[in-house]
Amino acid sequence: MAPRASTALAEPHPTLTGGAGLYDHQAADPVSSKAAMWGGISVIVVTTLVFGWLVVSNPALRSDRAGGTANQLGQPAQAAAGPDIAPGSPAFEGRQIIASKPCGGCHVIPGVQGAVGAVGPNLAGVAGRTRIAGGAVANSSPDDLKAWILNPPGKKPGTLMPNVGLTDEEATKVVDFLETLK
Ligand code: HEC
Repeated sequence: MAPRASTALAEPHPTLTGGAGLYDHQAADPVSSKAAMWGGISVIVVTTLVFGWLVVSNPALRSDRAGGTANQLGQPAQAAAGPDIAPGSPAFEGRQIIASKPCGGCHVIPGVQGAVGAVGPNLAGVAGRTRIAGGAVANSSPDDLKAWILNPPGKKPGTLMPNVGLTDEEATKVVDFLETLK
């Protein structure tokens, strides 16, 4: 039998200087390993600083409230602005009366600070509804609204809205305000 052809490599092995049999390619790298290490460290530092800043600058930390859009916070965008009401008008006084009563604990009321309750219906547009209280009570005039506010259980037995004890004069002004919520 003829001997095998020689399997010797045509080119010599490259020098092995990288340890563990690795070819040390540093000299051919576009970036030196030192520079790459400092690059990596700066990326970690910058990332940590940016994320730390994002966490610290979250408004929820200061306000003690979760962040979110007006809707997510339970306050319709309209609530902040509310209807345009001339200071000193009956509707203006009505709004002040509402703010001093527990209405806002049960209702969202546009234009009334802190009125974000969810027990009763949102009062935005209440003056435009022909029926209220889930359809049980007619609302064809401001007088209907006034009669309801003065005595809800009298209009709809078993309703969750209590009589909050407004005087007749207060109820008139409250309705003057509610009539601006069309
Ligand atoms: C304890 C909670 C509570 C309070 C306080 C309260 N309401 Fe209500 N309100 C309700 C509930 C519940 C309804 C729905 C009644 C139903 O369907 O039986 C309602 C219904 C209404 C409605 C009819 C709205 C509709 O579309 O059906 C008006 C107007 C209204 N409330 C105004 C007021 C005003 C003004 C005040 C303050 C003077 C007030 N409410 C205080 C719970 C409350």
